[in-house]
Amino acid sequence: MLEKPIGHDLESARRINDEVGGVFAEEQIYRIDHYLGKETVQNLLALRFANSLFEPLWNSGHIDHVQITVAETVGVESRGGYYDTSGALRDMVQNHLMQLVCLVGMEPPVSLDKEAVRDEKIKVLRSLSPIGIENISTTTVRGQYRAGAVGGTAVRGYLEEEGIGSDSLTETFVALKAEVQNWRWSGVPFYLRTGKRMQEKVSEIVIQFRPIPHSIFPREAGETAPNRLVVRLQPDEAIGLHLIAKEPGPGGMRLREVPLNLSFAQTFKNRFPDAYERLLMDVVRGNPTLFMRRDEVEAAWIWVERILDAWASRSERPKPYIAGTSGPSQAIALIERDGRTWHDDPAFLA
Ligand code: BG6
Repeated sequence: MLEKPIGHDLESARRINDEVGGVFAEEQIYRIDHYLGKETVQNLLALRFANSLFEPLWNSGHIDHVQITVAETVGVESRGGYYDTSGALRDMVQNHLMQLVCLVGMEPPVSLDKEAVRDEKIKVLRSLSPIGIENISTTTVRGQYRAGAVGGTAVRGYLEEEGIGSDSLTETFVALKAEVQNWRWSGVPFYLRTGKRMQEKVSEIVIQFRPIPHSIFPREAGETAPNRLVVRLQPDEAIGLHLIAKEPGPGGMRLREVPLNLSFAQTFKNRFPDAYERLLMDVVRGNPTLFMRRDEVEAAWIWVERILDAWASRSERPKPYIAGTSGPSQAIALIERDGRTWHDDPAFLA
């Protein structure tokens, strides 16, 4: 069993894979990405492939864009030595966020068989449109937190953390605009962001559907915001579908966005196993479906390394953001330039 990080770049990942592969056969190697063990992440498979409702709409004809946010309130804690050589892109995007992109973006596998699922995931990784020096400034934002307050408690800035050099250029936040270039997703941006010392801990996937083609309602009825499917991975695992409904009562047609919520805690009274618990049981049972195959790890590095190289060639300082906020303003500009906004509505899935 190997826990991430598997390498620091493509070359070191290949070296590790070669060394381990020299002793064990690929099917004996379990590369853990603990996000794949999270209940709601596995539920993405159920949502997409055990319901007939969504799959016909799951494409560029009906989806405007996808957002994936993994925000944390913690800082680097006692892991400064590791984190400062890593940064948010290596620590979170290369593995966890890319696995989420794969599960949202992949074609239906023929079965839940280990190779069937992983074969589909890797096709998504290979379809990611490259981000390099030519488009780095319009598709990525790096941030680094400054002193601030999280949940009412004052916290230090990244550069004051233990084990961090006072001139460190390591990013603690990253926002990206990725594109999966294939028939299903052509023209549908996947906006990704992750950061430490953010306002609240929340991981969610937002599928934003296209607006209605024509409104029959008068302007006074209110806006018909496009439908949105929100999969909240943590905390309070839930799936929410934002619909437009008429507000009850007289006074004409007043439209309002309302949630159709599925709270996992309220619906299922079962204990939620920890992600590692599930993954360790899978190792014992010999089921590698939820583990990363060698080619997946390397394909993810190929995409990420280009971004790292482009950043290195510019040696720009990461954009500062105050701890306890939602990241640097440039990340808001990244999505707003396209006429879209980040979904920041924590109260929605109560
Ligand atoms: C780890 C990262 O893989 O995931 C950490 O190395 C991060 O930096 C953690 O804090 C987040 O995991 P979770 O399950 O709390 O979202």
